[in-house]
Amino acid sequence: MKLLLLGKGGQVGWELQRSLAPLGEVTALDHDSTDYHADFSHPEQLAETVLKLRPDVVVNAAAHTAVDKAESEPDFARKLNATSPGVVAQAAQQIGALMVHYSTDYVFDGSGSTPRQEGDATGPLSVYGRTKLEGEQLVAQHCARHLIFRTSWVYAARGGNFAKTMLRLAKERERLTVIDDQFGAPTGAELLADVTAHAIRATLADPAKAGLYHLVAGGETSWHGYARFVLEQALLAGVELKASPDTVDAVPTSAFPTPAARPNNSRLNTGKLQATFGLTLPDWQAGVARMLRETL
Ligand SMILES: NC(=O)c1ccc[n+]([C@@H]2O[C@H](COP(=O)([O-])OP(=O)(O)OC[C@H]3O[C@@H](n4cnc5c(N)ncnc54)[C@H](OP(=O)(O)O)[C@@H]3O)[C@@H](O)[C@H]2O)c1
Repeated sequence: MKLLLLGKGGQVGWELQRSLAPLGEVTALDHDSTDYHADFSHPEQLAETVLKLRPDVVVNAAAHTAVDKAESEPDFARKLNATSPGVVAQAAQQIGALMVHYSTDYVFDGSGSTPRQEGDATGPLSVYGRTKLEGEQLVAQHCARHLIFRTSWVYAARGGNFAKTMLRLAKERERLTVIDDQFGAPTGAELLADVTAHAIRATLADPAKAGLYHLVAGGETSWHGYARFVLEQALLAGVELKASPDTVDAVPTSAFPTPAARPNNSRLNTGKLQATFGLTLPDWQAGVARMLRETL
């Protein structure tokens, strides 16, 4: 089997390089790849790449993920998050490939406290959310055999992440201030990549499994709860901190104004994914604790 991975260097792309490897021959590309064009700011070249390589599966992990920056460059964000994925989907359809794509909880308006289901009404609050919603719609429209995973609060051991920022600040200061009115589930890039590989195999065997799924770790927390958990784990591991879980002050979102509005309710219901693929999604604490053990 031949697989094409786009956006190989991102949090999820990096883990997909690992999880897709046992499935077959993987061609992994980024925007600066030279053998084949994979720059999402040039949609027309992406189609050429897909048609030349003729993979059985195309996995797109590339995106414009700078949520605040997207507010000031909406056309560029749209090209990367919507136009280009749509072009890749058309090419995938032309060669009969399965296309895998990622989307976000930011397609919702964040109201209420109920975990959103796949069919619930969308209502993005930001350019990022709107362009990601358009992207998932184009992928679904153009490529019949698709898997679209909406996820949230993605972290990875590689590169910077919220937990590492909290640890750095807790070493520098005695008190931290963290938002406590946005709720979701921190989800590891490792988990996303592993579930993706399972879902690809299952969907190739049974095309009826294609579709849109919510994919996040189990349980829920706020950024404040997440920060407290990170500090607790660090203390258990013997890391010296100036701040403690009890000196993490809770504040509302309004305390940190940002160009892009964030949803307060980022909870996603994963029942459809777990039932369709027979998978269990571990609680968010398991993945975060593991990532911390790797990085502390
Ligand atoms: N991060 C989150 O919290 C989060 C939450 C919900 C959903 N998601 C979705 O999950 C997916 C994976 O996100 P992630 O966290 O892995 O994002 P990421 O770490 O920001 O990775 C995005 C990838 O896209 C690449 N990229 C940027 N501009 C490009 C261009 N012009 N052409 C080709 N590639 C380009 C980046 O390359 P460079 O690094 O070289 O620029 C990087 O490899 C995305 O669809 C994202 O929308 C993420």
